[in-house]
Amino acid sequence: MTGDGWAAVAVGDSDTSVYRRDGVFAKCCSTDGVRDLRGERDRAEWLAGTGLPAATVVDWLESSDGACLITSAVPGVAGTDLPPAVHTRAMQSLGRTLRDLHSLPDCPFDRPLASVIGTAEDVVRRGAVNPQFLTDEWRLLEPAELLAQVVAERPYVETGAELAVCHGDACLPNVFFDPESLAVTGLIDVGRLGIADPYSDLALITIQLHDEWSADPEPFLRAYGVPEPDRRRLEFYRLLDPLTWG
Ligand SMILES: Nc1ncnc2c1ncn2[C@@H]1O[C@H](COP(=O)(O)OP(=O)(O)OP(=O)(O)O)[C@@H](O)[C@H]1O
Ligand SMILES: [Mg+2]
Repeated sequence: MTGDGWAAVAVGDSDTSVYRRDGVFAKCCSTDGVRDLRGERDRAEWLAGTGLPAATVVDWLESSDGACLITSAVPGVAGTDLPPAVHTRAMQSLGRTLRDLHSLPDCPFDRPLASVIGTAEDVVRRGAVNPQFLTDEWRLLEPAELLAQVVAERPYVETGAELAVCHGDACLPNVFFDPESLAVTGLIDVGRLGIADPYSDLALITIQLHDEWSADPEPFLRAYGVPEPDRRRLEFYRLLDPLTWG
């Protein structure tokens, strides 16, 4: 899709390709990915309609080769590009925005734990776990053993989970901020958005704040409203997530 002024965007680990031109981004996939990309389109449309900061869907192109989702470029900069001096304020802002997301009513999309674990089982069975997504400690074990840990913890996590609208891939490259006010300007990459345990988002964000920003996530958790999170639940979703990509 390069040419015609489209520039390839280098970041991204998924099977889709992302391009930029003027004020829009195009996320493109081959036929295998059309179902998922259509799902992302529907979620992006829904999220934009809630009034939370998000990209709007500008166009959808589909052919026998695949599909392209065109979205408006959200303003601001990705969380990964913020300087350390503003990290605390950005964490407070992110905490409030995530709380707003988790408080939205009437979401038509669902991301049940059973299907997420099903995805992990498939990735592990195919030997497709990406070791780069694992910690040193996890790399000492076989992916099947990691999956067994997840399965063993499932009853604990499923008991008492209070479900909410979750982003599903809540990481710093997927959250944009106004570099001055630190307000969140856009939640993007919403292909996994749906009703789930809010801890699935809290787990990914807090580990990213630690790994990417070397930050204590306390200001984020306080602004979110859970200053003392359930660590066992966080650990569960941290381990599950890397088993679902591949
Ligand atoms: N609407 C948008 N506004 C601003 N930036 C965007 C937008 N869409 C995509 N981008 C940029 O392109 C990058 C890749 O897009 P996106 O995250 O949707 O794709 P992805 O293939 O799922 O990537 P990843 O595997 O990193 O999650 C984003 O991290 C962001 O920098
Ligand atoms: Mg992304």
